[in-house]
Amino acid sequence: MINLNRARLAYDENGNFRYRGFAEYSPAYVVNNEFVYDVLQHMNPIENARVLTVVGSGDQPLFYAAHGASVVDTFDISYCANVIHEIKKTAIRANMKYDDYVGTLLMLLQSMPDKTSNVLSYMKLSNVVHPDIMRFVNAMYGCKIFRDATDNGFGKCLPTRDVYDAMRKNQTGGNFYWTDLQQLHMRLDKKYDQIYLSNILSYNQDDDYVMPLLKNLKPFVARHGQIMLHTEYASGASARLETMMNHITQSVAPWATVEFIKDTYNHRKPDTALRTYILQRQK
Ligand SMILES: C[S@@+](CC[C@H](N)C(=O)[O-])C[C@H]1O[C@@H](n2cnc3c(N)ncnc32)[C@H](O)[C@@H]1O
Repeated sequence: MINLNRARLAYDENGNFRYRGFAEYSPAYVVNNEFVYDVLQHMNPIENARVLTVVGSGDQPLFYAAHGASVVDTFDISYCANVIHEIKKTAIRANMKYDDYVGTLLMLLQSMPDKTSNVLSYMKLSNVVHPDIMRFVNAMYGCKIFRDATDNGFGKCLPTRDVYDAMRKNQTGGNFYWTDLQQLHMRLDKKYDQIYLSNILSYNQDDDYVMPLLKNLKPFVARHGQIMLHTEYASGASARLETMMNHITQSVAPWATVEFIKDTYNHRKPDTALRTYILQRQK
């Protein structure tokens, strides 16, 4: 349940989020920075897949929908992630032109992160966006509910014109679960062909966190379904990460296997990379 008072109190008088890390009203990313397109090439075909993904910037679910997924359910600990996803879906449904769509995102990102309601009204979206979203955005005037994660050295992933056209053609819906990943399994009611856990494990790289999480999600992974595990790590910590992944591989056998896919290096901090694994359900 949205609590506007609590949401406002999470931001200080300068509009900055008061806390570190992610929480129920932490600022959402506006533009994806994770090369979702690149990672998904290593997964099973998306066409007709039932998908569960973190919302993040909303680009992950939009990308899955654009490529023909039959269901795209989403979850996120932050309500603001749902807000950016809803704004993007509304703009796409309203047939916004590509340049205006990108322009809207850049305005939200750079010039007016704390005046979202102004951007929506300038882009003529205020009357079409869901009233709950508009109420939230109005109540949060002056708060920086969006942030730029694209200066972290992994690059900016604005959708290309082709991807945007595909997003306009395919707009699969689904449920949004506003929850911490650890409680997610209590909300789910179906099996998925793909579960996309993008980058979230970066903050909790230890056996005690990841193993129960995978065990809880197991009933919701379809036969031959996959879970994408994505984690940022410093090269000095690679041995630790590998030890953890070995433990995880042993703990999920024989119902699933875990495969290392790739490292994507950070061009700002060469000793940091995003590592991608795919857990593949066997039966
Ligand atoms: C680490 S961020 C990465 C976003 C990504 N870089 C992108 O390009 O969209 C992923 C998302 O996970 C959410 N998140 C972080 N920790 C979470 C948790 N424990 N449970 C659920 N969602 C979480 C954040 O709110 C954020 O929207």
